[in-house]
Amino acid sequence: MNTLSGKHILLGVSGGIAAYKSADLVRRLREQGAEVRVVMTAAAREFITPLTLQALSGQPVHSDLLDPRAEAAMGHIELARWADALLVAPATADFMARLVQGRADDLLAAVCLACEVPLAVAPAMNRAMWQQSATRDNLANLRARRVHVLGPDTGSQACGETGPGRMLEPGDLVRLLCGMFQEGALAGRRVLVTAGPTREPIDPVRYISNRSSGKMGYAVARAAAEAGARVTLVSGPVALALPERVNGIQVETAEQMYAAVMGHIADTDIFIAAAAVADYRPRDTAGQKIKKSAADMTLALEPNPDILAAVTALPEPPFTLGFAAETGALETNARHKLRAKSLDMIAANLVGPGQGFEVDDNALQVFWDGGSQQFGLTRKTHLARQLVALLAQRYQARYNKDTVVKLHAQDSA
Ligand code: C5P
Repeated sequence: MNTLSGKHILLGVSGGIAAYKSADLVRRLREQGAEVRVVMTAAAREFITPLTLQALSGQPVHSDLLDPRAEAAMGHIELARWADALLVAPATADFMARLVQGRADDLLAAVCLACEVPLAVAPAMNRAMWQQSATRDNLANLRARRVHVLGPDTGSQACGETGPGRMLEPGDLVRLLCGMFQEGALAGRRVLVTAGPTREPIDPVRYISNRSSGKMGYAVARAAAEAGARVTLVSGPVALALPERVNGIQVETAEQMYAAVMGHIADTDIFIAAAAVADYRPRDTAGQKIKKSAADMTLALEPNPDILAAVTALPEPPFTLGFAAETGALETNARHKLRAKSLDMIAANLVGPGQGFEVDDNALQVFWDGGSQQFGLTRKTHLARQLVALLAQRYQARYNKDTVVKLHAQDSA
């Protein structure tokens, strides 16, 4: 069965050059079984004709808020009621600003305001407009109101510049929209997981690594996908199959893992750092295999980047869950890391014979500011599901708190 089978998708098109991609988007949404109706702003009609979108959707295109004939057929309230989801693609900087203000002075803005179903926007604009603090503030505001922000992509732009702001390709938008209809505690959330060890090369045949099997990180990635999240797993070298519906990125060194994480973090709601990242790497990697000699040998090491700490130091960090593998003083060490790395949650376990690394079972104690929960020794797959359920609760609790604080701040402004 197609993923959007029978779903009513209202596609809003605002006035940017990416509007030409909306035609392909309509076609692909219908291929997935969706019924599509299109609402265009006046500016969008300058970029693509309503006739094109009418022919592809098989439905009249709506544009006018105050046209009595159009209102009699299907007015803004009926359109909002008809929809199972609303996607505005492209969403210009101006349209997002109007959305933030709750305007209702054209049909698309009015439909968005009247809409009680999931609302997604696919931003498309010049890179400087995207990077402006006004746009960043608008975006944060929309996210706090649970608007799904899909993209944008980075690359060459119609204006001749290169950078972030390109609208995502129609195929990607359809895939992300499908995710919004999935059910589960993390439905539609974007989760980035690190797992496994890293390998730090000494020479072409030798490396420094650790005993991590990646089993816990892979189980968490699988559990997050089962809970409806869109999961990307950045993995060091392990002997495990990629879980279904998880997007995998293979890396070897800590620096590669750092680069992969940073490349995806802007599109992440929840970051789970389950990897056992090597804290140090050889300062120099020999180009040829190092020959043995009778003399002692000293290996000079330099620190690797702390990926998790770098993520929480970002101006707009995602919700973060770290792991702590300890050989003693579990709570003290874990709570110290929770504070030192500014984490939302930390899952700590004792490592020792038969527990922690390389085995199928584990036990976890999870800590957060003002709370904790203990999960007894069980299969890592089961443990991961319990952990993800707790994470979803804590994520929701923080999200609700942030929204209340934001709304208070707006009220008193
Ligand atoms: O400080 P410690 O290494 O014990 O912290 C463990 C947590 O930090 C884990 O979540 C691990 O994935 C993460 N970490 C990291 N980058 C490092 C070291 C640890 O992301 N270089």
